[in-house]
Amino acid sequence: MERTLSIIKPDAVERNLSGAILAMIQEAGLTVKAMKMIQLSKKQAEGFYAVHKERPFFDSLTEFMCSGPVVVSILEGDDAIAKYRALMGATNPANAEEGTIRKKYALDIEKNSVHGSDAPETAAFETKYFFNDLEIVG
Ligand code: CMP
Repeated sequence: MERTLSIIKPDAVERNLSGAILAMIQEAGLTVKAMKMIQLSKKQAEGFYAVHKERPFFDSLTEFMCSGPVVVSILEGDDAIAKYRALMGATNPANAEEGTIRKKYALDIEKNSVHGSDAPETAAFETKYFFNDLEIVG
């Protein structure tokens, strides 16, 4: 069993897509172990995406991520990190495969509707960034 962090981003929450995206997640066999809706501050978004701070899109990305509410959750399952990344599809929706969340719902490479951890180390950092032990079921 493995855990990963999911964020349903402001572009998707604003379009009332949280339920549809969570349905895709659950239909893929991933189990929600923790969940909340929050609005990040700029500083919190910058802390979360600190690994990207030298990238040209950092300021725009962190502005976008605090522009409205997000739904953060911890997903659990066999190979959850890879499974969720496959379900999300490519970062740029123009390259995302049919049947993926980003192909269906993402607007562009920044407003790409969902985030998922990319490795066990980032999953550990990202789940702790949003949830303490008391907030995780099981
Ligand atoms: P995410 O999987 O959350 O990881 C970093 C985010 O930066 C990415 O999704 C996009 O929302 C955003 N982003 C914007 N431009 C780019 C880019 N050129 N390459 C990668 N990510 C980008």
